[in-house]
Amino acid sequence: MKIPSIGLGTWKLSGDECERIVRQALELGYRHIDTADAYENHHAVGKAIRSFPREQLFLTTKLWFNDLVPERVHQATARFLDELQVPYIDLLLIHWPSPDVNLIETLQDMVKLKQEGVIREIGISNFVRFHLKELAPHHFPILTNQIELHPYYQRRPLVKACEEAKIIVTAYRPAAQGAFEEDPVMQKIGKKYGKSPTQIALKWIHQQGMVVIPKAANPKHLKENLAILDFTLDAADMKAIDALDCGKRLCAPEGFPVYDD
Ligand SMILES: NC(=O)c1ccc[n+]([C@@H]2O[C@H](COP(=O)([O-])OP(=O)(O)OC[C@H]3O[C@@H](n4cnc5c(N)ncnc54)[C@H](OP(=O)(O)O)[C@@H]3O)[C@@H](O)[C@H]2O)c1
Repeated sequence: MKIPSIGLGTWKLSGDECERIVRQALELGYRHIDTADAYENHHAVGKAIRSFPREQLFLTTKLWFNDLVPERVHQATARFLDELQVPYIDLLLIHWPSPDVNLIETLQDMVKLKQEGVIREIGISNFVRFHLKELAPHHFPILTNQIELHPYYQRRPLVKACEEAKIIVTAYRPAAQGAFEEDPVMQKIGKKYGKSPTQIALKWIHQQGMVVIPKAANPKHLKENLAILDFTLDAADMKAIDALDCGKRLCAPEGFPVYDD
């Protein structure tokens, strides 16, 4: 895979806390850090990764709405390099599709950034099937679509469309913000494997070939979320988790364009 399959989400982490947790994550073995201009923590992430070998790290950041117009893409990315104190970004995403911007032009500019070596990979986030259809004729080298996905919100048609377009799905909010800890089905499956309910949720996603980027500030959670590679969920358990799908979207910020799959 061109992208480490477990990453650390950093939404809501800032300042010294963010720096400390990213550093801790690197010590634990995380090699994929997910940030965004909108999270306002580039400086803290930059400080945390400063003494870490750059080539061993996969760093993702995202362009916010105001920087999607082509004349701003290069300018914003130059600022990201400066804030993160890195010579290149591994993956640059369009954070959220804007209905007011020609996203083909945005992606054309991102392709230029890739050719210039400023970014290594191009990606999208919160894109749904009709966006993918619009992009298809352009054959952009899109590595991943980062979307909300977890056992309560499985989005099978969108996942299938990504697979058909050879776009890796990165699941954000994969821990459903801790909600699985209280779920009796997940608790029962967790007991069987000696894992926590959240680990079971992450494994269910990971086992389907998707990338997970849980956020954790608690060191116990940080450790747990990496420790999902030493077991396999059997078919019956995968099916029991499939049955938990209830279309429960947790990320629908007010005023944002929210699209059905
Ligand atoms: N592209 C987008 O539009 C978008 C939108 C949302 C998120 N994201 C990205 O995806 C990342 C993850 O999503 P998220 O932060 O919204 O939600 P999340 O990762 O599903 O949930 C984080 C919450 O779950 C708790 N948690 C984590 N691991 C746990 C475990 N093993 N056991 C129990 N609780 C656990 C954390 O607690 P503690 O912090 O106390 O450990 C935190 O409260 C974000 O940080 C961000 O990088 C992207």
